[in-house]
Amino acid sequence: MAAIAPNDLSNWWMPFSDNRYFKANPRLLVAAKDMHYTAADGRRILDGTAGLWCVNAGHGRDAIVAAIQHQAATLDFAPTFQLGHPLAFQLAARLAGIMPDGLDRIFFTNSGSESVDTALKIALAYWRARGQGQRTRLIGRERGYHGVGFGGISVGGIVTNRRAFGPGLPGTDHLPHTHDLARNAFSRGQPAHGAELADRLEAMIALHGADTIAAVIVEPLAGSTGVLVPPAGYLERLRAITAAHGILLIFDEVISGFGRLGAATAAERLGVTPDMMCLAKGLTNAAVPMGAVAVARPVHDGIVDAAGDAPGIELFHGTTYAAHALACAAGIAALDLYAAEGLFARARAVEGLWEAALHDLAGLPHVIDIRNFGLVAGIELAPRPGAPGARGQEIFRAMFDAGLLIRVTGDIIALSPPLIISEGQIGEICALLRQGLQQLA
Ligand SMILES: Cc1ncc(COP(=O)(O)O)c(C=O)c1O
Repeated sequence: MAAIAPNDLSNWWMPFSDNRYFKANPRLLVAAKDMHYTAADGRRILDGTAGLWCVNAGHGRDAIVAAIQHQAATLDFAPTFQLGHPLAFQLAARLAGIMPDGLDRIFFTNSGSESVDTALKIALAYWRARGQGQRTRLIGRERGYHGVGFGGISVGGIVTNRRAFGPGLPGTDHLPHTHDLARNAFSRGQPAHGAELADRLEAMIALHGADTIAAVIVEPLAGSTGVLVPPAGYLERLRAITAAHGILLIFDEVISGFGRLGAATAAERLGVTPDMMCLAKGLTNAAVPMGAVAVARPVHDGIVDAAGDAPGIELFHGTTYAAHALACAAGIAALDLYAAEGLFARARAVEGLWEAALHDLAGLPHVIDIRNFGLVAGIELAPRPGAPGARGQEIFRAMFDAGLLIRVTGDIIALSPPLIISEGQIGEICALLRQGLQQLA
C-alpha cells in the first residue's frame, strides 16, 4: 500500500479543473456563511456565483443545517425501491406546489446530470408506452449544457464536453444557439432579436419527420456556456412548434430554477410551460446533493397507466440515493426558507438595481457585451489574439485574490450571487470588477 502524505493534493483528480495548475497554485475554501466564503488563508471571499449557481439562500443557513442534523440522527437512509419514507412524499408535494400547473409528478435524482438523463429516458419510455416507440430522436441546442451523462452530452452543445467521448447517443440533432452579438450586444433583459431561430425546428421536423422525434430539450437561460438570455418570443415559439407536432418539450432549469430569474422557475417567469423540467442545485440550497424531474401528469400517466392492471415496476430507472432522507430534509427546509424570506420575489425586486450596476461597466477595456436577466449577468470580454480564454482565467484569478468569487467560461464572466445579496454587496461586486477589468492586459 502506498504511503499517503498528509496535505497531499495529488490523489484527488478534480472535476472540470486544470489539475496541474491548481495543485501548483491551490485555492482552498474552508468555511462559508451567508454571502461569504472563507479561504484557507483566512480571507473572506464575496460569493458572486452562489457557489456554482446553487446556494440561492446563502451559505450555512441555520434552518437547513438543523434539518439535516435532525434527519441524520432520525433516519439516515431508507431504500426507495418498493419502499418509501415520509419526507420524500412531503418534498414531492411541496415541489409540485411551486411548479407550473400540471407538472406535479416528481422523480428524484442526485444531480442535474441525472435529472437530464432521467428526463430523456422518460421521454423515450413515454412514446414506447404510447405505441410510438419509433420516436427516439432527441433534439438539443448548440452551446447547451445538460450535464455530463451520455444523454446530456449528446444533446448538449459544448464541444469540449463532447469531443473526447465518442459519438454519443445516435439520432440527436441540435438547434442553433441564440447568441447574436451583432444584433443584441448590451441588451438589458431579454434580447429583442432571435425568436425566429426557433423556426429551425420546423426544418428539422421536415427533414426527420415529427413522428421520429421524442423530445426537444433546452435551457430557458443557457448558463454554463456563458449566460445566453432567451430572445423575446423564442421559447414561446419553441413551445408552439413542439405542441403542434406532439413533441415533448423539456426545460433544463437546473440553473434557472429556485428564484434565479425572480420566480420559482423560468417557465413561470416567462409564461411558457414545458412537459418536463429538470431541477437540481437550489432544490436543497446545495446543502445535500439532489435533483428532480417535474413531469406533466399525462406523461407520467402515459407510462404508469400503460402498465394496466398487471402488477410490477412501470419504469425501470432510479438510483440508490434518489430521495435520500438527508436531501429531502434539506429540500423541505430550503423551500421553507425561500418562502419565509420571499427570496424569489426579492430577486425580482433587486433585478433593476443589479442590471443598472452591471451595465455601468460598459466601456471598460475588452468588454464587448454585458447581458442580464433575473439575478444573472454575463460580461463578455474580447479574447486576447491567439490566446482565447486567457483573459477569462486572469480575471478569475485576480478577482479571487481581490476577494470576489466569479465564474468564467472562456472569456465570459458569469455572475449569479445568492438571492440574499444586499444593495451594498452588488456595489462591491461591480467595484471589484471595475478595478480588475481596468488592470487586465
Ligand atoms: C443547465 C444545467 N443542466 C445540468 C447541469 C448538471 O448538473 P450537475 O453538475 O449537478 O450534474 C448543470 C450544471 O451546471 C446545468 O447548468
